[in-house]
Parts: sequence; structure tokens; C-alpha cells
Amino acid sequence: MTEALEYYKCNVCGNFVEIVLPGEGELVCCSQPMEKVKTQDSSEEMTGEKHVPFIQKTQEGFDIKIGSILHPMEEQHYIQFIEVHSPDKKYVKRKYLYPNEEPVLKLKCGCNEIVARELCNIHGLWISEYKENEKE
Ligand SMILES: [Fe+2]
Repeated sequence: MTEALEYYKCNVCGNFVEIVLPGEGELVCCSQPMEKVKTQDSSEEMTGEKHVPFIQKTQEGFDIKIGSILHPMEEQHYIQFIEVHSPDKKYVKRKYLYPNEEPVLKLKCGCNEIVARELCNIHGLWISEYKENEKE
């Protein structure tokens, strides 16, 4: 059984998928089960918060930067996408990134809470949340 917005990857061919609507069946690619992608433990980030999404409230919505010190965007090591969603998972937005681009997503919205995730091609999936009453 899958859940909405879970990520799965194929360790053979590199396919990386997101669940839009959940179902009962097992996801299979290249003749083997796909692996559910888990978020990395941010408490283990010892390299200066380069991966945990850094979320700042703006007048128009949010700026999401990867991370508090911008992550490298080199040919061999870069952020592949930033995705944000509302805590209830009703709204989703994804920005794909490529080497030499700035790992930043500017989100226009009137919302007060968001969840941000990003995928580093080497260090995996990272997550953080913004809740208004925890920041003031
Ligand atoms: Fe990285």
C-alpha cells in the first residue's frame, strides 16, 4: 500500500516516481520491487546545513533555499528538484533544477504552513516544515 506523495526509486535503471494517488499494489521496475525513498536525518547533517530546505516567509509567500548555506550546483553534485506541499497534501509544486542554477524556489501563496523536500543526486532526500506559530 502506497501513500500520496511518497517517492520510490528503481535501483537498476534510476527511475524515480512519486505517488499521485495511492494503491494496493507493489511498484515494480526492471523486474524488481522499487525502493521507497526515505528522508535523510537532518540531525546527522554535519556539513553546514547544505541540504535541509531553509524556508523563509516573504510578503508574497515563501523562499525555499537549499540550504542555509547554498548547496553546490556542480555537474557531478547538485540538487535535482525542490518540491513543496501543503501539510494536508492538497497542493503540490515542484521545480526541477540543473547544474549552475541557484537551488532556490520562490513560492507565491497565502498559506502559513508548508512542507519542503529536495533531492540531492548524491546525498538523497531531505525535508523541512514551516509552521507560522513556531517561528514568531
Ligand atoms: Fe549533496
